[in-house]
Amino acid sequence: MDGNGRWAKKRALPRKAGHKAGVDALKKVIEECQARGVQMCSFYAFSTENWKRPQDEINAIFKLVEDFAANELKKYVDKNYRVMCMGDLSLLPQKTQDSLKEIVDSGKNNTGMIVNIAINYGGRQEIVNAINYILQSGINKVDEQMVSDCIYTAGLPDPDIIVRTSGEERISNFMLWQLAYSEFLFIDTLWPDMDKKDIDYIINEYSKRNRRFGDIK
Ligand code: IPE
Ligand code: MG
Repeated sequence: MDGNGRWAKKRALPRKAGHKAGVDALKKVIEECQARGVQMCSFYAFSTENWKRPQDEINAIFKLVEDFAANELKKYVDKNYRVMCMGDLSLLPQKTQDSLKEIVDSGKNNTGMIVNIAINYGGRQEIVNAINYILQSGINKVDEQMVSDCIYTAGLPDPDIIVRTSGEERISNFMLWQLAYSEFLFIDTLWPDMDKKDIDYIINEYSKRNRRFGDIK
């Protein structure tokens, strides 16, 4: 979800205002994905590198996460969406952790679209944690399935497509294990400007891709 800061800057607003607008876009995107039959959607809200930002901006982001959990995510859980998080939540403010935990727990048996929020998430951290977890169990030879089973998305499908907004063309430590055969799409839209027509574009673009997974044809 990139481009909140630039969206705000264009309007001579503080970066926080960009993050707030980003939350409004997130609601639209989640609802549109659900309407289009998407089964799982992951959103990169805060990376393990985002701690480098000014404390004031970090606090504003976590406050938005708390409000989003209490308001929107709660509504989604009531509508049978399953909300999950990936990342090391233990480093977040207690209040942010509690608000997310409550939502995740209350919807854990839901069967609708999975909304996965990556927060204090890093792909390398995820893989290293998985390997340490396996080693602690006494196993000294790791295979691919074991890693897949010990990462945050254990048992869930790898992403079909990864979209980065705002014109940046890099992965920034997102789902490094899971992306092995994902399609990529880089769009210029700043995250707060995301709407239905961007989702249409993404789905249409995905439908034109020919996925071979290393096979021929
Ligand atoms: C949002 O966009 C991403 C978050 C970490 C919340 P940015 O804050 O990275 O926006 P830009 O890149 O400065 O435009
Ligand atoms: Mg950015």
